[in-house]
Amino acid sequence: MISWKIFFRNASVIFLHWHKYMNTYNLESDLLLVDNLNYQGQKIDIFLSTNRNVDLNALENLCDAVGWVRRPFRKVKIAIEHSFLTISLFYHDNNSPKLIGFARATSDSAFNATIWDVVIHPSFQGHGLGKTLMDQIIQQLRCSDITTITLFADPQVVPFYKDLGFMTDPDGVKGMFWYPR
Ligand SMILES: CC(C)(COP(=O)(O)OP(=O)(O)OC[C@H]1O[C@@H](n2cnc3c(N)ncnc32)[C@H](O)[C@@H]1OP(=O)(O)O)[C@@H](O)C(=O)NCCC(=O)NCCS
Repeated sequence: MISWKIFFRNASVIFLHWHKYMNTYNLESDLLLVDNLNYQGQKIDIFLSTNRNVDLNALENLCDAVGWVRRPFRKVKIAIEHSFLTISLFYHDNNSPKLIGFARATSDSAFNATIWDVVIHPSFQGHGLGKTLMDQIIQQLRCSDITTITLFADPQVVPFYKDLGFMTDPDGVKGMFWYPR
C-alpha cells in the first residue's frame, strides 16, 4: 500500500469557505487534500478545486483514461456551466495542473441533487480519492440543506456507492428513463 495521508487542513475551515445559499459554489482557494502521495517515485500533493473553469481537454483525457464514450465539447461545457457544484482533483507537474479526478452535481438548489461524471484516473484509483471526492460532494450538498441525493451507477461500481450509503430502489422506488426513439 502506497504510504500516503489525507488531511483536511481543518474541516470547519472548509465549511466556512463554502458560500452557503448561493447558486454557485467556489472555494476561495484550492484545498490541499493529500500531501506527499508517492506517485511514480515522486512525492506529489493533491489539491481540490471547485473552480468550474475546467480544462475540457484535460477532462476529456481523464474520461478517455477510464474508457468513457466521448461527448461533444460544446455540450460538456454547457453541462459544467449549469452544474450546481463541480469538484476537480489535480496535482502540479512543473507548475502545470494535472487533472486526476472529477465529479459534478446538478440541483434544484432546495430539495434534490444528482451526482454525475464521478471519475478518478486509473493511476490514482484504489487510494481513497474516489471516496474523498464523494464525501466532499455530499458534505457540500448537505451544507445547502439538500436532502435527496441521487446518482446513476454503472453496475460494476454499485458496491462503491453502497459503501458510501447510497441505496438501490429505496422503498421500491424505481429509476425510470426516457430516450428518444
Ligand atoms: C469508481 C471510482 C471513482 C472509485 O475511485 P477510487 O479512488 O478507486 O475509490 P477509493 O479508493 O476511494 O475506494 C473507496 C472504497 O471503495 C471500494 N471500491 C472502489 N472501486 C470499487 C468498485 N468498482 N467496486 C467495488 N468497490 C470499489 C474500494 O475498495 C474502497 O473500499 P475500502 O474503503 O473498504 O478500502 C474509480 O474506480 C473510477 O473512476 N472508475 C471509473 C469511472 C467510473 O466507473 N465511475 C463511476 C461511474 S457511475
